[in-house]
Amino acid sequence: MAITTCVFDAYGTLFDVAAAARQAAAEPGFGALAEKWPELAGHWRLKQLQYTWLRAVADAHCDFWDVTQDGLDWALEAVGLQGDSALRQRLLDLYWQLQAYPEVPEMLSALKAGGMQTAILSNGSPPMLDGAVQSAGIGDVLDDVLSVESVGVFKPHSSVYDLVQKRFGCARDEVLFVSSNGWDAAGASGYGFVTAWVNRMAEPMDRLPWKPAHVLPDLTTIPQLAGLR
Ligand code: LAC
Repeated sequence: MAITTCVFDAYGTLFDVAAAARQAAAEPGFGALAEKWPELAGHWRLKQLQYTWLRAVADAHCDFWDVTQDGLDWALEAVGLQGDSALRQRLLDLYWQLQAYPEVPEMLSALKAGGMQTAILSNGSPPMLDGAVQSAGIGDVLDDVLSVESVGVFKPHSSVYDLVQKRFGCARDEVLFVSSNGWDAAGASGYGFVTAWVNRMAEPMDRLPWKPAHVLPDLTTIPQLAGLR
């Protein structure tokens, strides 16, 4: 079936999650991060995600802002910076205004110009997603921003992917779901979406029962993949 609806994961897919640590490292007062920011960013992201999965299987949901702070606290301690409260606060502030990847605005505009429905489907809480969408200036090329908070469980629970059909009334195979998280693209494939895994870092494919339909180095070819141009 033809694609009618393009749905994007937020963190790591549209918004660069490493940007907070990278940017703080370049600011005065945070010299301690100069060498350590890539390690900190890696730990932060991995712990944040692990906590979403653990909370989902343990039926102990909290919102994404809480797991983002918990993941950061673990990461700061792992790199020996747990006492730096100014750094902690700066990193958290930057997380509300992450940079979008450079190709994002033009790609979303092309989808809208081609008549596609467009949305974010994210673990992020509505206020966090509002902040990121506004700071990236992409609100007018998105039809909606869907958050797991309306179902109270994190991805890849199927009730999260159900939100797309509930909002847009489309069949699963009319949806192109795009994520830079291999496990999210895999989960969405198992659910029945057409999927694209954006593998910017050339990582190995996750060993899960489902595979993404497409693997891309970045987002520039999404309009063609959706059947436009
Ligand atoms: C999200 C996380 C998984 O935006 O990146 O849902």
